[in-house]
Amino acid sequence: MTGFHAIRLTTRDGKRLGFDCTANESIVAAAAAAGIFLPVQCRAGACGTCRATCDDGDYALAAHSPGALSEDAATRREVLLCRTFPRGPLSFALPYDSSCIATEDSAPRPAVVTDLAVIAGNTVRLLLTLGPDPQRGGGAAFEPGQYMELKIPESGVTRAYSLANTPNWDGQLEFLIRLQPEGRFSAWLSGGARIGDTLSVRGPFGSFVLDQGSPRPRVFVGGGTGLAPVLAMLRRMAEWQEPHQARLYFGVNHESELFLLPELEHLSRELPRLGTALCVWRPGPDWTGFAGSPVEALRRDLEAGAFVAPDLYVCGPPGLIAATEALAQRHGIGAGRVFSEKFLPGR
Ligand SMILES: Cc1cc2nc3c(=O)[nH]c(=O)nc-3n(C[C@H](O)[C@H](O)[C@H](O)COP(=O)(O)OP(=O)(O)OC[C@H]3O[C@@H](n4cnc5c(N)ncnc54)[C@H](O)[C@@H]3O)c2cc1C
Ligand code: FES
Repeated sequence: MTGFHAIRLTTRDGKRLGFDCTANESIVAAAAAAGIFLPVQCRAGACGTCRATCDDGDYALAAHSPGALSEDAATRREVLLCRTFPRGPLSFALPYDSSCIATEDSAPRPAVVTDLAVIAGNTVRLLLTLGPDPQRGGGAAFEPGQYMELKIPESGVTRAYSLANTPNWDGQLEFLIRLQPEGRFSAWLSGGARIGDTLSVRGPFGSFVLDQGSPRPRVFVGGGTGLAPVLAMLRRMAEWQEPHQARLYFGVNHESELFLLPELEHLSRELPRLGTALCVWRPGPDWTGFAGSPVEALRRDLEAGAFVAPDLYVCGPPGLIAATEALAQRHGIGAGRVFSEKFLPGR
């Protein structure tokens, strides 16, 4: 018979959680069985969402992608909780606050399409209004930076999209979505979707949220629609008038792909310590701004000493995140100060 091992988790804001886990169960599965729903996406060691650090105890770490957890990180006793199996009592530090952990499995809710508009060549802004939640009532409750799962009506197609707005009582959800050629959700958005359609949504999910307890400067890197969760965070900072020094690097391939520039200007007025760098990878001849990737622009500013010991928030394609993490490491910014969300393709 398999014995049970005591597992202790401590969240970034100091909340302690405990449950038992057998040697054959992952920490994520045992936590869910105990009614503790940790932030996860792939549950297969591929995305890195369930990263944590083991403070004490022995464990086995099953096969995983080096992009989700590098060998170096594993040597520092960082783990992926969906691939971690206990060999005795264990305690872990979680890199997010208790507000990212759900105590019940998220039930689907209907949400009505209230607006759908093209905001750049291949990017749309989708607005939904949530129906009432039988368990929690009305309103859209989430942490800026989190995402929802959206299911197209009468189809099996479900995709994750980051929320670009802040929590509200009206049940409003705002998404910024890049249309992918041949993409199934993209095809629905550009062809079939109509105002008044009802989608099924689940969430919120994810642990890509502001570290509210940190007074460090905040550096944001958004690649394309990776701006969405970053925008939610900046909007929250403006609502709360947070005093942090902040800088946004917004990267696109061509200037025709830039979007929501008036909104970014508005945020700069609301947040006097926010600077914005628009980074265009392959600009046309009339572009006078920075030509290159947001990681190059960030490197230039780090080398010039523009920020001391910042927190880094980065969202977009996996390559952008890997490049930002490598740059952070070269500049002595610890892995624990780099927060990321990868836009992995749906399954
Ligand atoms: C946590 C999370 C949050 C996300 N938030 C957003 C968001 O806010 N905005 C947004 O635009 N996307 C976001 N994504 C990506 C999104 O979930 C879908 O994967 C994307 O919209 C493509 O869906 P699709 O059905 O149109 O394409 P699919 O039918 O899934 O794929 C069609 C083709 O496009 C390729 N493809 C799919 N996605 C990408 C990609 N991101 N880059 C390059 N090629 C791709 C596939 O490999 C495939 O060949 C997020 C993903 C995750 C995991
Ligand atoms: S949920 Fe564990 S690596 Fe994706």
